[in-house]
Amino acid sequence: MQLSPHKRENVLPLPVVLISTISKTGIRNAAPWGNITPILRPLDEIVLASWLRRDTLDNIRETGEFVVNVPPATMVEEVMICARNYPPEVDEFEEARLTPRPSTTVAPPGIEGSVAWMECRLVEEITREKYALVVGSVVRLEVNDRYVTAEGDMDFGAARPLCMVCGNDGIRFTYPVDAGRFALYSEMFIRRS
Ligand SMILES: Cc1cc2nc3c(=O)[nH]c(=O)nc-3n(C[C@H](O)[C@H](O)[C@H](O)COP(=O)(O)O)c2cc1C
Repeated sequence: MQLSPHKRENVLPLPVVLISTISKTGIRNAAPWGNITPILRPLDEIVLASWLRRDTLDNIRETGEFVVNVPPATMVEEVMICARNYPPEVDEFEEARLTPRPSTTVAPPGIEGSVAWMECRLVEEITREKYALVVGSVVRLEVNDRYVTAEGDMDFGAARPLCMVCGNDGIRFTYPVDAGRFALYSEMFIRRS
């Protein structure tokens, strides 16, 4: 079946994060984001795409800081409360009853109960007619100790980080499952003997 080109998210699962920011007057904001990706392993930068009318984008522009919180699937109701278009003067931590978690290197708090936290600083904004690409540098990355395996990897099975797949009428929320194949990074390189 051929789909309209704009339905890319109907065939491509995306992560769901909650981006926390504060306004220049100190109002806390949290918003779900699917259009976010690390820029090439093992660099420190990430990029997110934002419609131009977003309190999150305004706050990042004003303060240069944000936290990318990775919510567990159990936080989906809070995620959808934060998705509502509250005016900028509303504290979305209060609306969604989120518990702030003090950050170490940036002013915006993280969200308690997340699977992981990325404290970020704005590097560059690429502004297009309808949207902006925000390039940020992850200055501090922490994973919740509850979800770290003995090998030091993240335990995705226990953590259930929230993901999304779009449908014609709405969003289906999901999380990753182990497909049963582990690949060493070295498998990508052809060895010549
Ligand atoms: C699962 C999900 C993912 C979303 N991803 C994005 C996104 O990548 N970029 C964007 O601009 N808006 C995205 N939105 C919409 C914003 O979260 C929503 O408009 C929110 O109210 C923005 O809040 P703010 O104005 O406080 O920043 C998403 C919404 C949901 C529910």
